Amino acid sequence: MICTGTFQAKAMKVVLVVLLCFIVHASADTPANCTYEDIRGKWTFQIGPGGHDRTLNCSSFTGDSSSQSITFDLLFPDLVMDENGNKGFWTIIYNQGFEVVINGRKYFAFSMYKTEGRQTTSYCDKTLPGWSHDLMGRDWACYTGQKQASETLKFIPSKKHSIQKRRNLKNVFYKTNYDFIDAINKKQTSWKADKYSMFEHMPMEDLLKMAGGRNSRIVSRPKPYPVTREVLEEAAKLPAAFDWRNVKGVNYVSPIRNQGGCGSCYAFASMAMNEARVRIMTNNTKKPVFSPQDIVECSEYSQGCDGGFPYLIGGKYAEDFGLVEESCNKYKGRDGKCSTDMTCKRQYSTRYEYVGGFFGACNEPLMQINLVNNGPMAIAFEVYNDFMHYKGGIYSRSGLVDKYNPFEITNHAVLLVGYGADHDTGEKYWIVKNSWGELWGENGYFRIKRGSDECAIESMAVQSFPMMKL
Ligand SMILES: *[C@@H]1O[C@H](CO)[C@@H](O)[C@H](O)[C@H]1NC(C)=O
Ligand SMILES: *[C@@H]1O[C@H](CO)[C@@H](O)[C@H](O)[C@H]1NC(C)=O
Ligand SMILES: *[C@@H]1O[C@H](CO)[C@@H](O)[C@H](O)[C@H]1NC(C)=O
Repeated sequence: MICTGTFQAKAMKVVLVVLLCFIVHASADTPANCTYEDIRGKWTFQIGPGGHDRTLNCSSFTGDSSSQSITFDLLFPDLVMDENGNKGFWTIIYNQGFEVVINGRKYFAFSMYKTEGRQTTSYCDKTLPGWSHDLMGRDWACYTGQKQASETLKFIPSKKHSIQKRRNLKNVFYKTNYDFIDAINKKQTSWKADKYSMFEHMPMEDLLKMAGGRNSRIVSRPKPYPVTREVLEEAAKLPAAFDWRNVKGVNYVSPIRNQGGCGSCYAFASMAMNEARVRIMTNNTKKPVFSPQDIVECSEYSQGCDGGFPYLIGGKYAEDFGLVEESCNKYKGRDGKCSTDMTCKRQYSTRYEYVGGFFGACNEPLMQINLVNNGPMAIAFEVYNDFMHYKGGIYSRSGLVDKYNPFEITNHAVLLVGYGADHDTGEKYWIVKNSWGELWGENGYFRIKRGSDECAIESMAVQSFPMMKL
């Protein structure tokens, strides 16, 4: 996932520039680029001995003679079966890896990739060492997965996607293009574009990194899932407009934050979802603010300031490791050794899912139903360069390109808090909380066109269910 951040403080900018000198590949997420079809099929998992707790380090695990092998059939759309006919479910996680839940255990691993020099290759028929544990999280084991060649489909066992060398934009600086802003405002009246001084003179490399990094571009996003009649009937009972910042006069959404120049949008969206859902669950008697720095420094389910995914953080990390409050590890906006105060109490989740049950099962009415019934949720969308200029209104992509600032499409994680429709035009929108500070957009929020999967915003919503902490 990409993370677009903003630099409001000059000091942060210096930190970022220094940081980039060390990170040669400022790529977001892992370089793996595996599609649903790459993953679907028969897999053999080599599973190491169980009996460990969650401190188990799987990073150097390789299946050996002491590991047992189990074969799973990953079927359409989300059914998994083992050799004894037991059933479970599975989902891909964007283009990064997949999770399987069957026989009381969960298995998650990133897809395999290798970096040699400036070339990165993903091997979608293999996984990196992953983590398996029982549903209660008491019994952990490491595993690796290998996909079996199929007899019917001509599967190419080592399908590769090479990531090409791109133009170095470290010394290309962003400069506001007023003609571009004028052109956006002339082309449409639904939203207003404006200049932001916080972007001025920022290296384009940083801006892109803020926007999730150059490898995070959505390549095989699912289309919104077909809407069933039951879902439509349920959605028809919902209010015409809804906003978790004002439910009968009560606000359940935590304050706007600023991720700065670190690709940590996924952590901010994940924390914000859990913060709001705890407020809802406790009728605002508990208002924790969770620590994105704990995620950036300590999570092996994400890539620090280089990106990550709300499914793995707001959901899986919250379930497996729990979230700590901000005071346990204050936000620094840069990578580092895990420095979280381990005596802090943790807020756990009991369950998490892609809305609809698996990646690719999402659509507008399902998002509305889950939003109103369960609370705000983490979503992601494609960022085009006109979005940076959003000042207010209902955003939809202008299709215009800023010729002077070489921008690539990135993928940004944010928090969905409400929906509505414009009084005059009837244009439907989502209300979304961003993590670029209060000066950006509509006091840190934006509205975006609803019902047409604008910028893929209706294709990958994630929700997590926090447990009552005593
Ligand atoms: C796991 O082990 C590897 C070396 O095999 C080490 O580099 C890494 O830091 C360890 N991770 C944790 C979380 O301790
Ligand atoms: C990722 O994979 C898709 C589908 O195989 C391909 O079209 C796309 O070019 C790949 N992207 C990169 C960055 O390799
Ligand atoms: C929730 O909190 C509000 C404001 O303090 C209070 O008026 C209301 O009665 C509470 N609701 C419940 C169900 O306790």
